[in-house]
Amino acid sequence: MRVEALPVVQGEYNLRNYEEMYEKFNWKETEKEFSWSETGLVNMAYEAIDRHVETFRKNKIALYYRDGSRNEKYTFKEMKELSNKAGNVLKKYGDVEKGDRVFIFMPRSPELYFVALGIIKLGAIVGPLFEAFMEGAVRDRLQDSGAKVLVTTPELLDRVPVQDLPELKHIFLVGQNVKEEGIFVDFLDKFAEASKELQIEWVERNDGLILHYTSGSTGKPKGVLHVHNAMIQHYQTAKWVLDLKEEDVYWCTADPGWVTGTSYGMFGPWLTGTSNVIIGGRFSPDSWYKMIEDFGVTVWYSAPTAFRMLMGAGDELVKKYDLSSLRHILSVGEPLNPEVVKWGVKVFNKRIHDNWWMTETGGQLISNYPCMPIKPGSMGKPIPGVVAAIVDDQGNELPPYRMGNLAIKKGWPSMMYTIWNNKEKYESYFMPNGDWYVSGDSAYMDEDGYFWFQGRVDDVIMTSGERVGPFEVESKLVEHPAVAEAGVIGKPDPVRGEIIKAFVALRDGYEPSEELKEDIRQFVKKGLAAHAAPREIDFRDKLPKTRSGKIMRRVLKAWELDLPTGDLSTMED
Ligand code: WTA
Repeated sequence: MRVEALPVVQGEYNLRNYEEMYEKFNWKETEKEFSWSETGLVNMAYEAIDRHVETFRKNKIALYYRDGSRNEKYTFKEMKELSNKAGNVLKKYGDVEKGDRVFIFMPRSPELYFVALGIIKLGAIVGPLFEAFMEGAVRDRLQDSGAKVLVTTPELLDRVPVQDLPELKHIFLVGQNVKEEGIFVDFLDKFAEASKELQIEWVERNDGLILHYTSGSTGKPKGVLHVHNAMIQHYQTAKWVLDLKEEDVYWCTADPGWVTGTSYGMFGPWLTGTSNVIIGGRFSPDSWYKMIEDFGVTVWYSAPTAFRMLMGAGDELVKKYDLSSLRHILSVGEPLNPEVVKWGVKVFNKRIHDNWWMTETGGQLISNYPCMPIKPGSMGKPIPGVVAAIVDDQGNELPPYRMGNLAIKKGWPSMMYTIWNNKEKYESYFMPNGDWYVSGDSAYMDEDGYFWFQGRVDDVIMTSGERVGPFEVESKLVEHPAVAEAGVIGKPDPVRGEIIKAFVALRDGYEPSEELKEDIRQFVKKGLAAHAAPREIDFRDKLPKTRSGKIMRRVLKAWELDLPTGDLSTMED
């Protein structure tokens, strides 16, 4: 397939020339940015915030925050003091110590960021949860991680099944009129009087930093543990891929419940001393354009679903706003359609730069740099220091244009450290015969070294940029009293990438109806999360299963898309 490349748009980028930097590149050089070059110990929160207070950035704005009711800004010096205060509260009233898992379950707010940084300053591990999670999703994550402390809001508390969480010792409530009793602590009250001075816990580079739960095709969500060492990658990619510079105003639209909202919503921008815009509340095309105009956003990082929705909102809307501050736009999370890239050039006069990575990889690995021609539809090329290849199931490298497993040579700094409580799962990511990390994505490489995404090897669903494991949804579905069996697939959708479609066999005594569909949908919504609820439900008498009783999602998909069902030899009679 020949694709016309979009040439580099004139500009002064941090990385002048892809090929040249690739030859010169060395992670060891990047490390020298940080304090561990002298002490051997380090702390991400110090490097991201406190370090800048010793420099000309002291009074530079670190955080612009806005939502429906708040409009605030904080300098690096203020961020240092406020995260120290949060750290002190957690230490004094929550006994938080190095290595403890401390979860955050609340809507975006400045306090969320003070708390996250405070946790890190104590050497504890942050567990960020999406505000949309319902009881089941919260329970799974807090139980698996053995969380000791939770920071949440009074409004979300009824989704925290405290009785099922014996290891949870303290719950901090961020809100007004908090009643303090038992394990509940009024966060804001303690925060107001906490000291601005905090002794940072210096840690080893491989000590735990953050735990992001993510979905696979089987089993419960798994806890991907990242360590402080990841800062090398966050810093380097913030410079070269996000192309952040001193005068930039940067906006990453991702929530910190997702790895993009931490690696590139907190760490990357702050490690490079950049002014970071964080917007709370819900998405709407109008308000998003308005944010870019109001803050003079220069670098904007979002996701294909959002760009498709903006495209759907029409070109006229774009013209109502002054978006001339934008100089660099990026996208991650799912395939970025070539039409969207072309639309970006038309309405923003900017190329949208796709890049590829995963929760497990902790940072960007394959990317379109501002300094290189981009081919719309391609994820770009490996970043310097990263070796990517397409390999067969034995780990042999395949030549250009052959489709296979997208694999990365072990050894980039932000690689996950382990899967929490599940060493076996961690090991399953690597080819047995070598040191390839296998992503679970299939792709091919072209003759210029650009990588092209083809699909997931497994059944993981990508809906509006959220990664949903079909097993988790199926497990919830069968908890519904009417559901005997359920199989869940991703169905292609022009805006959301995929939507969740469930095939359901009912228990005896239940009849298919629209009301029942809605009831089942609400059940998943309330039990797991809104984004995990199936948009479509089909009732069937029986579901296709293997002899060992596994639902054959591949057959469901073939039914749905009118494709040949393939080999059915393992299907039960
Ligand atoms: C998919 C996201 C196509 C892919 C940071 C990967 C992409 C999964 C791209 C990880 C891209 C991510 N083009 N597909 N540029 N980026 N993906 O863990 O299937 O939520 O394996 O992390 O998203 O999703 P996760």
